[in-house]
Amino acid sequence: MISRDGTCMSVWQNTVAPFNSQHFSISDQIYDVVIVGGGITGVSTAFLLQQSGKKCLLLEANNLCYGTTGGTTAHLNTLLDTPYNAIANKFGDDKAKLVASSVREAIESMKRRISDINFDCGFRNATAYLFAKDEKQEKELAEIKESALKVGVDCGYVSSMSYPFLFRKAIQIEDQAKFIPTRYVYALAHEFENLGGIIQEQTRVTGVEENETINVETSAGNFECRALVYATHIPPAVNLLHLRCIPYRSYAMAVRLKGNNYSEALAYDMEDPYNYYRSQEIDGKTYLIAGGFDHKTAHEEDTEYRFLQLESHLRKSFDISEVKYKWSSQYFEADDGIPYIGHLPGHPGNIYVATGFGGNGMVYSTVAANLLSKMILGQNSLYIDLYDPNRIKPIAGFTQFIKHNADVVKQFASKLFDADKLEVLADLAPGEGRLVKYEDHKIALYKDEYGKLYALSPVCTHLKCDVRWNSAEKSWDCPCHGARYAIDGKVLTGPADRDLEKIPLAVVRT
Ligand code: FES
Repeated sequence: MISRDGTCMSVWQNTVAPFNSQHFSISDQIYDVVIVGGGITGVSTAFLLQQSGKKCLLLEANNLCYGTTGGTTAHLNTLLDTPYNAIANKFGDDKAKLVASSVREAIESMKRRISDINFDCGFRNATAYLFAKDEKQEKELAEIKESALKVGVDCGYVSSMSYPFLFRKAIQIEDQAKFIPTRYVYALAHEFENLGGIIQEQTRVTGVEENETINVETSAGNFECRALVYATHIPPAVNLLHLRCIPYRSYAMAVRLKGNNYSEALAYDMEDPYNYYRSQEIDGKTYLIAGGFDHKTAHEEDTEYRFLQLESHLRKSFDISEVKYKWSSQYFEADDGIPYIGHLPGHPGNIYVATGFGGNGMVYSTVAANLLSKMILGQNSLYIDLYDPNRIKPIAGFTQFIKHNADVVKQFASKLFDADKLEVLADLAPGEGRLVKYEDHKIALYKDEYGKLYALSPVCTHLKCDVRWNSAEKSWDCPCHGARYAIDGKVLTGPADRDLEKIPLAVVRT
């Protein structure tokens, strides 16, 4: 089993065993490319570059698929969360067509890789349904369909679908797909290693300095490279992109149905937030995998309640024999609707980034890998301008803002708090976390199942917002830019790259 950035278990975590690297990094070597992040974006990019003759080092702070790749529901779509009419309104018809062709090519390139390397990751072509339940949605559906046809996505109205939902109108979209993301990533990672690439897990990047080459500081020493890719879902440090990408949490479940009546298709309703459905066979067992009930990260007080809502929603339409897995996962939505892939803003040289994939992370990860590998290889692409992160306008005063905020001072180093007093004050149940106020300090306090207290400074080490408790995944989540921390303060999700400050507790006898 592999680990993930939360305590809930996703349906994918048992599909692969922990990765065993075959090669080790060499510190006095200059790598052509260092790729930071061992999810689908990082591993796909690393594989393509190594295959093209570049000497690559992939650094992962935890283990492969630790982040959203291990918590996705793995839909591969050409009909995207941001409808083509919205993309066309903002960027024009030609760019909407380019978005459509980039995602179509991404799915085709994934198929090619699976067939060339010859591995099984449960990949299946699938049709998808998008269905409207009221008049307003019906009108939106008509616009979505027209704009999809205009950019070459094959879709049309149907009078029935292989899901037990009531609907007024539905469209069927051809040539979508589904797969097991962990098995796909692991197969590419092994092939990357066979080609001479190096994967180093448990290595967090803590700083980057650009000179003639790029010096990469990590928790396991320094490395040097000519180009660097942040495939970390959101880049670390402080960047304009943090103001342009909004973090959301989505809730998912893998359930077994009575009667084995699983649809092979993908399906989406048009609620806000929308719900999504598909099935997957894993090692001889089929699951209905469904999700939804999204909210902005750290903007929901009772995250466990979202699971109850999802389960009761599913039980209305499906005869469920067992809820086998339930988990939540994070995604970052670009504020203008399409991802940011290319040169990291403020770094026009050789530092690259891919972020803002919204709910289409699996397909955009491959769009990013295809595009970034071309850029680093010095090849041209129709998609460079389309996804250019530097399309965002600079913000006046941003540099001062960074200087003012980036300096997080340790507040608790010389203080010792009375554990007994805190416990009485907080009155936490086992497994509960809460922000408490004690002697003019805010403290992020958690009590584990055995009664042990964990006290942390709630000040996010990214830009100093206060974190909030996420009861579903037992983590401290930041409402500002989506950083997340474990109960012991360890970073689970960027952009933070430093842990929350631990507060020393002692039993003070009087
Ligand atoms: Fe930016 Fe917490 S993630 S302040």
